Amino acid sequence: MGEEKAMKTNRKAESRISEDLESPPPTLGVAILNKEKFLEVLKESDGINDLGLLKNKVLSLKRIIVFPKGDREGILNIDLNGDTVSLRKDVLISELNQILEAQTIGRAKYYLKRLENGVQRIKTNKVSDINLLRWKEYDDVITDSLWMLDKRDTSGAHLGWYWGNFIPQIPHQMMLRYTKKEDWVLDAFVGSGTTLIECRRLGRNGIGIELDPEVTKKARELVEKEKNKHNVTTKVITDDSRTADIETILSQYSVKQVQLLIMHPPYYDIIKFSKGHSDLSQAGSVEEFLEMFGEVVDNATPFLEKGRYFALVIGDKYSKGEWIPLGFLCMNEVLKRGYSLKSIIVKNFEETRAKRNQKELWRYRALVGGFYIFKHEYIMLFKKR
Ligand SMILES: C[S@@+](CC[C@H](N)C(=O)[O-])C[C@H]1O[C@@H](n2cnc3c(N)ncnc32)[C@H](O)[C@@H]1O
Repeated sequence: MGEEKAMKTNRKAESRISEDLESPPPTLGVAILNKEKFLEVLKESDGINDLGLLKNKVLSLKRIIVFPKGDREGILNIDLNGDTVSLRKDVLISELNQILEAQTIGRAKYYLKRLENGVQRIKTNKVSDINLLRWKEYDDVITDSLWMLDKRDTSGAHLGWYWGNFIPQIPHQMMLRYTKKEDWVLDAFVGSGTTLIECRRLGRNGIGIELDPEVTKKARELVEKEKNKHNVTTKVITDDSRTADIETILSQYSVKQVQLLIMHPPYYDIIKFSKGHSDLSQAGSVEEFLEMFGEVVDNATPFLEKGRYFALVIGDKYSKGEWIPLGFLCMNEVLKRGYSLKSIIVKNFEETRAKRNQKELWRYRALVGGFYIFKHEYIMLFKKR
């Protein structure tokens, strides 16, 4: 075969492979690779100085990932000696594509090195386990300040029976971003135990304080229903968070400070939780409510480690035709105490069936009364200086 003809055939074959590889939709799921072999191929590719040849090498790597049966290199052979590495398939393919689309050898090698680093090393910040070298795999972690969540997570022990609970995604997101495995989380208004159920799922230790003994009893039962696969401590304590002896509670586990503080207090009197005067929902006025909330902040925040986060979940309310900005008032109580404000997240209220049925009625009332229907609450995020 003449040289020109051979080149033409090669080009044809190359473009056929590309087409084949582009046709299957990027499958979600994980590619478990033989780490040593995979790195060997990446390093070999890194040694190639011709862009076309380098791309050929990467193309055959991509082919193995997409069509595992053609693996002659042993990249997918996890029975061979050595470590394995699990990479999200769609992210890996997109990284390989980036190399294949590079216009210069320098750029291609830059992407190659980045992929190699992501396999070899772990880089996290001080407060979470997110591997920043593989940040593309974390698209379940929310980084926008507007949260539109339309479905409550009702899996496992999350039954959603408690009127006034928050959706599990709130503590879940907070823990993913602001705690590491085995860190300690304190929830000063734990209610039905949502935070502690998430603690069990994510391998964080958790202490929850709740005033109402009936509610704590149920919360305990529910939390126990959730598998404790990371073998963490999750404890529900019946007490008034304004005065609870948190130091003694923590010392039982040889812990002095927690790494994340969560508070989801009553939104003043919107829902009256219990009858006792220690309940924040029984406060006689907004001022008294804020004072009580301030007492909880004063009692709990000394036990939050410096440089760590405090998430306050709170909504506003209407009273006698006036919007009471409870969220911002509570935020001020925390700021007065020297915390730095990291974010104000606005989260939608998910629509329940009951609310959906009353939608038209509320819309009519809003038009008549000239008001807006509450559709959001806040997650105020603070950092201890
Ligand atoms: C908005 S709910 C929290 C719900 C919780 N996030 C959940 O998912 O179930 C507020 C809780 O604070 C409790 N509470 C009110 N005053 C309290 C106080 N002084 N100390 C501890 N808990 C209190 C109420 O009984 C109620 O269960």
